Amino acid sequence: QQISLDGYPHYMLKEIHEQPDSIRNAMRGRLDDQNATAIFGGLNLTPQQLRSVDRIILTGCGTSWHSALVGEYLIEEFARIPVEVEYASELRYRNPPIEPGTLVFGITQSGETADTLAALVETKRKGHRTLAINNVVGSSIAQAADGGVYLHAGPEIGVASTKAYTSQCCTLAMLALYFGRLRHMSYEAGQEFITALRRLPAAVEQSLTCESRVREVAEKYQSATTFLYMGRQYNFPTALEGALKLKEISYIHAEGYPAAEMKHGPIALVDEHTPSVFIVPRGTTYEKVIANMEEVKARSGPVIAVTCHADPAIDNLADDVIRVPETPEFLQPIVSVIPLQLLAYNVALLRGCDVDKPRNLAKSVTVE
Ligand code: G6P
Repeated sequence: QQISLDGYPHYMLKEIHEQPDSIRNAMRGRLDDQNATAIFGGLNLTPQQLRSVDRIILTGCGTSWHSALVGEYLIEEFARIPVEVEYASELRYRNPPIEPGTLVFGITQSGETADTLAALVETKRKGHRTLAINNVVGSSIAQAADGGVYLHAGPEIGVASTKAYTSQCCTLAMLALYFGRLRHMSYEAGQEFITALRRLPAAVEQSLTCESRVREVAEKYQSATTFLYMGRQYNFPTALEGALKLKEISYIHAEGYPAAEMKHGPIALVDEHTPSVFIVPRGTTYEKVIANMEEVKARSGPVIAVTCHADPAIDNLADDVIRVPETPEFLQPIVSVIPLQLLAYNVALLRGCDVDKPRNLAKSVTVE
């Protein structure tokens, strides 16, 4: 069945714009105000099993692996359960000791990625509970897992994942709330969490209004041969995802780094032709990331800042500023990734690349 472009020139752009709705759909029926928690009907875990979870492994490939990293920050902060993130392609051949209280989540848009499927089948064979966070109903991974959560993001056609990523992050946030409330998270904290989640679609909607600003930035830097993306904490995965988007569809070399790691290598790449994109919303490491921006500036590197409120410290430093709405720190990756998706899209367009079907890539990789 042909999915309509609804007047958009590309599926990727359409899917970027669908995100306020796809996030709403990920949350539909899953927020329980009365108990200040989330509802997951398909985990297929007994209350006893749920309470005995003492470790979580999140595994996936590509963009789904990036959402797993966001999930690690979320679940460790709010549920206080130790989390490990594994590339599925590594997990399937590694033989890590997995304790009985460990839950393994396979995160996947398509539900067909061969490595993710194999990693889940292998861990399940060894007797562990496996769950899928998956977009496609009835997919191979959904069938192989003991239970799971559907993203309800609707079909994603563009090879570069956009709406599935933000839905995965949102679902992982709800899982953090769910597991948190089973442990020590207070009722009030649960309510606040839900309030923040409910505001998210409007924040994403507002984030999309940065499009014309992003187009100007894309025009300015379209000829660069390397981009650096840097962020910290919740936005370290955002840096990885921004760099991946650009690589995938514009074929420009890009690297994502936790900003503080810059001094251990990437700073050697900085010169007047190498733009650095900093994801720098206010939060725990705000001043430190600004100091990293100064280091890039001191070496004549162009600085692009994705930030929230006007702050002279950033406005005077950055060559280009893209503003996104402010959310609580733990939801900021979902809002901050929007301009990075749009930047990749616009740069690819200006370079004449096939945005929806980039060379050498497949929407789902069903072979090893
Ligand atoms: C391919 C796609 C990526 C995707 C990855 C994992 O490489 O091009 O966009 O992130 O597979 O796919 P999955 O369907 O498992 O999320």
